[in-house]
Amino acid sequence: MRGADGIVATPLDPVGTALFDAAGPQLKIVANFAVGTDNVDFEAARARGIVVTNTPDVLTAATAEHAIGLLLALLRRIAEGDRFLRRGEPWRWSTTFMLGTGLQGLTLGVLGYGRIGREVGRLAEAHGMRVLPMRDLARIGEVDALTLHCPLTAETRHLIDAAALARMKPAAVLVNTARGPVVDEAALVEALRRGTIAGAALDVFEREPEVTEALLSFGNVVLTPHLGSATAAAREAMGRLCVEALRAVLLEGRDPPNRV
Ligand code: GLV
Repeated sequence: MRGADGIVATPLDPVGTALFDAAGPQLKIVANFAVGTDNVDFEAARARGIVVTNTPDVLTAATAEHAIGLLLALLRRIAEGDRFLRRGEPWRWSTTFMLGTGLQGLTLGVLGYGRIGREVGRLAEAHGMRVLPMRDLARIGEVDALTLHCPLTAETRHLIDAAALARMKPAAVLVNTARGPVVDEAALVEALRRGTIAGAALDVFEREPEVTEALLSFGNVVLTPHLGSATAAAREAMGRLCVEALRAVLLEGRDPPNRV
């Protein structure tokens, strides 16, 4: 990074004093290739007058789709069925073989009702779900599925802890496409072990890219490697937003509209 005037950072790169020092005093902008900015030390950026931008809107549809995809993969046992066949297990169609749960009529709690949360709500309604927008966990006991769309902050770190999980219905499932540390993974493993929740679908992890090993052993857990915004179209649009922000700051001396 030495000598860089602008940097494009990924959501897992710590953007703060160490990076700013490594780059040098000419650094003017960090374009975060992500909508989430929990990797950024804004105080340090502000102190040095470094502009930070993110990539809102262009990944909303992709991330919301992924959350619904995970929910379907979990409740309709799509991922589990795939693993089952790959193991070469003997099987035969039967009336009660590998029954799952349909989305129709279930209540979906959407924790964090911003751009992505609202889009998830819209898609969930199209699947016949009742959508419960949630700002806190007051009504967590009512939901059949809880999907997380809040940013990672000091307030949301480990928001889904043992106490929160204990308040969910035993038949309820958890979907996380937000940030891993919003969920206490050890508490989640314990809840899955005891059957106090019915399953989990995770796209993000507490110590990413590490995945808590115990999670791998559950049939009722679906895992994807941080693919929320991973469509070619979304990633290209995110890249364009980064490039336009770099151009605005470095070539045109303008404040980019996606400054955080
Ligand atoms: C990805 O995780 C993002 O925040 O865009």
